[in-house]
Amino acid sequence: MAKTKSVWFCKECGNESPKWMGRCPACGEWNTMVEETVSIGKNQHLHVSEIVPGASHKPVPLKDIDSTHEQRISLNNAEVDRILGGGLVEGSLVLIGGEPGIGKSTLSLQIPLNCPQLKTLYVTGEESARQVKLRAARIGGDDSGCMIYSETLMENIIAEARRMMPDLMVVDSVQTMFSQNVESSPGSVTQIKETAAMLLRFAKETGIPVILIGHITKEGSIAGPKILEHIVDVVLQFEGDNRGTYRLLRSIKNRFGSTSELAVFEMTGKGLREVSNPSEMLVPMHEEGLSGVAVSAMLDGTRPFLIEVQSLVSTAAYGTPQRSATGFDVRRLNMLLAVLEKRAGFKLGVKDVFLNMAGGLKVNDPACDLAVISAVLSSNFDFAIPSDICFAGEIGLSGEIRPVAQTDRRIIEAARLGFKKIFVSSYSSLEGIPQQTSGSIEVIKVADVPSLCRSLFKGN
Ligand code: TYD
Ligand code: MG
Repeated sequence: MAKTKSVWFCKECGNESPKWMGRCPACGEWNTMVEETVSIGKNQHLHVSEIVPGASHKPVPLKDIDSTHEQRISLNNAEVDRILGGGLVEGSLVLIGGEPGIGKSTLSLQIPLNCPQLKTLYVTGEESARQVKLRAARIGGDDSGCMIYSETLMENIIAEARRMMPDLMVVDSVQTMFSQNVESSPGSVTQIKETAAMLLRFAKETGIPVILIGHITKEGSIAGPKILEHIVDVVLQFEGDNRGTYRLLRSIKNRFGSTSELAVFEMTGKGLREVSNPSEMLVPMHEEGLSGVAVSAMLDGTRPFLIEVQSLVSTAAYGTPQRSATGFDVRRLNMLLAVLEKRAGFKLGVKDVFLNMAGGLKVNDPACDLAVISAVLSSNFDFAIPSDICFAGEIGLSGEIRPVAQTDRRIIEAARLGFKKIFVSSYSSLEGIPQQTSGSIEVIKVADVPSLCRSLFKGN
């Protein structure tokens, strides 16, 4: 019998400690340490540094390494290919994370169904083979290249994969898999690390790409994919409102492409549909402008798109005014309201302010500031901003409007979608804008909040 000992792991970051601590010294989170039993013996506890990718164990001169043909496999899904940086790289380990019910299993089944030419091994530890069949029937597509394997023991899975040598392997999910090497139960930090390490070794040695699914829970009660982020090559995260139909897939880490790419999907009765033009879903065209609504020309990753910002300002019913924001940082909203109060004299201190970003999107582009304050002012005065106007600008603490990155691309996207006016900072450079765009959209430059109010609400 191998000797065992108890160690404590942080559920958030995987930090290991010989004793329990209230606060993890590595990530600073409270109450995240859990006890696990590990074996002390040779090869029992592999660390990431011990996994040797590739067959060669000798040092090689950098100049002699061949990097010309990095093979990429197209997944017949333009959005997924794009956020992977142009297709799935051979031998890569891709983690798809997200809350339960968001659509991870649906997407990872849709990929092989879209690519019947790829021999796929789909390992499911969560659902029975029959359940997967029912889901496949719902999604439609060609299931000729897809093998379903209902198994949770990693040793069996790796053996079967080595025998079959598929073109692609999907493992749903990391939390249900376990290895005999490790004593603790499935879903524990050691099991998750071991599962990922085994899959990484398999992917690097055989060149077969592996898609691994991992759950994130709000409370973090199951050891989450956070621990895996440094092991895997690519981390894609599903976001969005479970109740809504739109799902956002964000690239958080990508060793073979750019990060902060964003892909938008719509959950339909037949699986996930690619939304290639997100602006169309985020900006519903109102016939008449509504008060409290302003459109922001924002940038997520490398992609410009337009999103509707909605605000409601009402008289505070209780002593303390409420400030609530969905999809936007509430501290930033408070700061913008303070700027409006101090620099432009609006008495918002006695008002409740609610803010919402359309489509369940979480926004962290500072260029949305201008649309946020315009929406707040519009609701406060009950004055509708015409629906063909959009905004892109950051607000500084002294009320000045600051230029934002890639203003030209935002203007081009707004013009393409038929907007007639865009408000930007006076200090923006407009060099990259083609003649034909500047003819179809009027660029209004504003320097500070008072001048924005003058141009926006003139005549009222
Ligand atoms: P699922 O992929 O099972 O989520 P996860 O693996 O991330 O836990 O997707 C779950 C939700 O998607 C479920 O509530 C049902 C819904 N759904 C559809 O609306 N249409 C479909 O075609 C499919 C397959 C699922
Ligand atoms: Mg699932």
